Amino acid sequence: MKYNLSEITELIKNRRTIYPKFYSSRKVHKEIIEHLIRNATWAPTHGNTQPWRFKVYREESRKELSVKLGDLYKELTPENLFKEEKLKKIIARPFLSSVAIVICMKRGDNEKIPEIEEVQAVACAVQNMCLTATAYGLGSFWSSPKIIYSDQMKSYLKLKSEDKCLGILYLGYPTIDWPKGQRKPIEYLTEWND
Ligand SMILES: Cc1cc2nc3c(=O)[nH]c(=O)nc-3n(C[C@H](O)[C@H](O)[C@H](O)COP(=O)(O)O)c2cc1C
Repeated sequence: MKYNLSEITELIKNRRTIYPKFYSSRKVHKEIIEHLIRNATWAPTHGNTQPWRFKVYREESRKELSVKLGDLYKELTPENLFKEEKLKKIIARPFLSSVAIVICMKRGDNEKIPEIEEVQAVACAVQNMCLTATAYGLGSFWSSPKIIYSDQMKSYLKLKSEDKCLGILYLGYPTIDWPKGQRKPIEYLTEWND
């Protein structure tokens, strides 16, 4: 075996969504964030287009993100779906997290590569980040409120119409015991053809 597979398996199984309300105020150092992003860029990508883009919000800039997310929620949510609780959460999350990384997909100009494959590549990159975060003992939360897919969000992020915002990755040191996950046994989801 070339790598320690039992550790790698443990890492994969232990990656857990942990919400910002469970993060401490301990800061995530810039070097750690850089490590996460560097590992993200080693994800596979069809045609090596490397479509991921990351916009990191730390310190004071978290306020700008929080205000924008709150304003967009108020502006874009139909009255019958608007929830004050949801608004509060959207506004609070950037502050509860030491760092928020907005995940973007920059569409390349090679039209032979389907858009869905660019999105898939970014999702692989995010998984690399989350696994690296887990190794550092950091909780992560991939948040995808509907507003992130809006044109208004795109223009705030200075994305082109063909690009996409895919979510916000919140990170922080948890104050709670590391949560346990649950998965269906593979028999339920695998069809074998021998
Ligand atoms: C693309 C994507 C978007 C997600 N968006 C949300 C979200 O908006 N709100 C949320 O509570 N969880 C979100 N999650 C996290 C899932 O809820 C979480 O991964 C799932 O419950 C399994 O838990 P685990 O991550 O601890 O294994 C998202 C996950 C992915 C992959």
